[in-house]
Amino acid sequence: MAGISRRELLLGSTATLAAFAAGGLLSRQAQAAAHSLTLARIRHSVLPGTITENMMSFAPDGPPPVLRFKKGQATSIDVRNGLDEASVVHWHGLRIANGMDGVPYLTQLPIEAGQQFRYQFTPPDAGTFWYHPHCNTLEQMARGLTGVLVVEEDEDPGFDQDLPLNIRDFRLGGDGQFIDLFKPRNAARGGTYGTVSTVNWKVAPHYELAAGSLVRLRLAVTDVTRVGTYDITGGDAQLIALDSNPLPRPIPAKDVVLSPGQRADIALRVPDDESGTVSLHLKRPNGDKELAVFLPRGQSARRDLRELKPLAPNPVPEPDLANAEVLDFVFGWSPEGGAPQASICGSLGYTFWSINRIAWAGDLPGPFDPLATLRLGKSYILRFRNETPNAHPIHLHGVSFRLLRSNKRQLAPLVTDTALLLENETMEVALVADNPGDWAFHCHVIEHQKTGLAGFLRIAE
Ligand code: C2O
Ligand code: CU
Ligand code: CU
Repeated sequence: MAGISRRELLLGSTATLAAFAAGGLLSRQAQAAAHSLTLARIRHSVLPGTITENMMSFAPDGPPPVLRFKKGQATSIDVRNGLDEASVVHWHGLRIANGMDGVPYLTQLPIEAGQQFRYQFTPPDAGTFWYHPHCNTLEQMARGLTGVLVVEEDEDPGFDQDLPLNIRDFRLGGDGQFIDLFKPRNAARGGTYGTVSTVNWKVAPHYELAAGSLVRLRLAVTDVTRVGTYDITGGDAQLIALDSNPLPRPIPAKDVVLSPGQRADIALRVPDDESGTVSLHLKRPNGDKELAVFLPRGQSARRDLRELKPLAPNPVPEPDLANAEVLDFVFGWSPEGGAPQASICGSLGYTFWSINRIAWAGDLPGPFDPLATLRLGKSYILRFRNETPNAHPIHLHGVSFRLLRSNKRQLAPLVTDTALLLENETMEVALVADNPGDWAFHCHVIEHQKTGLAGFLRIAE
């Protein structure tokens, strides 16, 4: 208000009025969300020569956008639901306030068709994350609602380019149209696989990259089912982070196992020569599948992987193992196997799985009991016991945990939000219960999640 006299205010000179008008406009713009997403049904060409009807995206005109936030910076996202059904958006891996976590009834009401919801949070960690609905989750994700979310480090590690790769399958027939999104007999086993593998909604896309440059590949496996082994050949590639947490030191990006929900950050040194093709592929017993190709272009930039600054660890608290309480979780078959209740967030119509002998009843108003209540600020060891002959990527919202040990294999002491629990494996992980609220806890094979293998942990004072 400096510079405006009382007289000017009273008389309302045109200059003063203009200044007020501009100020008003600015403050209204400042109130607009930093990001916006519109959920929409779209048609799009995935399989060359065809157009897939009834896809779902976070944009009305193409694949889900890559969202970019900055570590420690407040951000907001206006989500408009342009679908003809309810939805809700979850930010997978972000340790944010419970009310912004996007789980129907547990943290917010579903966003009804035509409605809008503003998410506001400050990402505490940097890395590669992703976002997806948590309502009618199988159908909405299967139709395309999975996007990559990047939280940038405070300090630029020094890459020439940053390339998010949204890796997933679609269940399409030869005509490019969706076929049955799942088969019940598969939901009761390993889950139903897609028929068309894609990266950023393209079949085996080619990316031209500056020769000799350093590129950060951000792999996000957003598929509803597939556990895969990923490999990069033809270039110098180092794995630098898993599930958004930097590795203590980079290792060669060979045979990287990623299950639904998991991410890998890979530092790629693009070959010097245009003939040096790099390929990302999925290893399979019956022959590898090429997912994406990277082509060096131009004069070599002659960069060196050693020029990259190491990524700083995220501020995840270290659990106090000596004083940690052990909580047991048994992942098993469903005791009764009755039909789940209908919900506006959808039901697959079957119950096959359970956690601690309880099958999740569905996305319903509840109230439901938590699988366990954790005291805020205390350390816990969660013991995951898999009684089933199938693998389950176990995911916990709101807090990250550290892998401790397994009865079947050597585990690297990684920090994650999603751990692949092998068939008949018992695994222990540890965490500090530092984020209050009701946190969804489920298998990320979505057919398992939606047929019972889900629940929540409560963190309370
Ligand atoms: Cu990817 Cu309940 O989460
Ligand atoms: Cu999540
Ligand atoms: Cu599972």
